[in-house]
Amino acid sequence: MGIKKVGVVGCGLMGHGIVQVAAQAGCDVIALESDQGFLDKGLARIQKSLAKMGEKAVQKGKQTEEQAAAFAKDAFGRITGSLDKNDLADCDLVVEAIVEDLDVKKALFAELGKICKADTIFASNTSSFPIAEMADASGRPARFVGLHFFNPVQLMRLVEVVRTDKTDDDVFAAARAFGEAVGKAPVSCKDTPGFVVNRLLVPYMVQSLLMLDRGDASKEDIDTAMQFGCGHPMGPITLTDYVGLDTTLSILEGWVERYPDEPAFEIPQVLRTKVEEGKLGRKSGEGFYTWDGDKKA
Ligand code: 3HC
Repeated sequence: MGIKKVGVVGCGLMGHGIVQVAAQAGCDVIALESDQGFLDKGLARIQKSLAKMGEKAVQKGKQTEEQAAAFAKDAFGRITGSLDKNDLADCDLVVEAIVEDLDVKKALFAELGKICKADTIFASNTSSFPIAEMADASGRPARFVGLHFFNPVQLMRLVEVVRTDKTDDDVFAAARAFGEAVGKAPVSCKDTPGFVVNRLLVPYMVQSLLMLDRGDASKEDIDTAMQFGCGHPMGPITLTDYVGLDTTLSILEGWVERYPDEPAFEIPQVLRTKVEEGKLGRKSGEGFYTWDGDKKA
């Protein structure tokens, strides 16, 4: 794989996972944040996740305790935290995983376009914004793709690799190869709203919330139905909490604005109300359920 040095902008929910899987795959990684506190939090999450994964590998007999500790130490040692965008200048790939705000992302890529070496590949982990708009803003649309990972990045096997009309074939191939190198199954997607997964998943989550709003079934029953009736690891309402109610709302708001005639893109009132109340799901400790860290209370 030609990609040896990776920059990840944003070390939050998704970004820290992308940093971790890239480091586990042997890449040198710059983890860029805007604030030392966010950076420390992201790096602490990575350490915790590496320790957990090592513990599981030992339990399963795949590694000895010493091997697991050495693997975690090596992976963490390949990560350099930074608050300075200039540290991304010589990266082969820069993945953006910052706040879901298209203007902020476009401004970031315009800046990175001036900082990074000419052949750096840029990728956005956006859930729902058009890749082409960010690609144009970067000034290097031929070297731009979407790399959409799933939460939790360390465990979910998929990465969507999104190309625009302007993406070079070799850039797209390199992005797919990177996805494979970090242990994911890459799927090729066109630059359409929500790509494959979110185009299917978000309307499904919406329908579950509308069902709850109408009183068709309780949240527990809706979740149990989809878990045991369809074999999903989590029901849709738990999953909305897991993804984040603010994230889900912001995806929907973007779509409703751009595609007002698409009936699948509808915003349930209960979602707006919860977000207004600061009930954002797992990340705030309460959404449709109450949460104790990563688990439902
Ligand atoms: N790092 C390391 N280990 C982790 C981890 C992490 N980040 N997160 C969880 N684990 C570990 C847990 O600690 C646990 O270990 P244990 O068995 O020793 O206790 C183990 O993984 C299993 O986790 P859980 O016991 O919490 O429960 P599950 O067996 O249900 O697995 C799950 C968790 C993999 C998250 C599973 O529930 C799942 O697949 N849920 C669906 C997630 C999903 O659909 N994600 C996609 C969301 S959409 C998205 O991301 C797109 C975006 O654009 C909106």
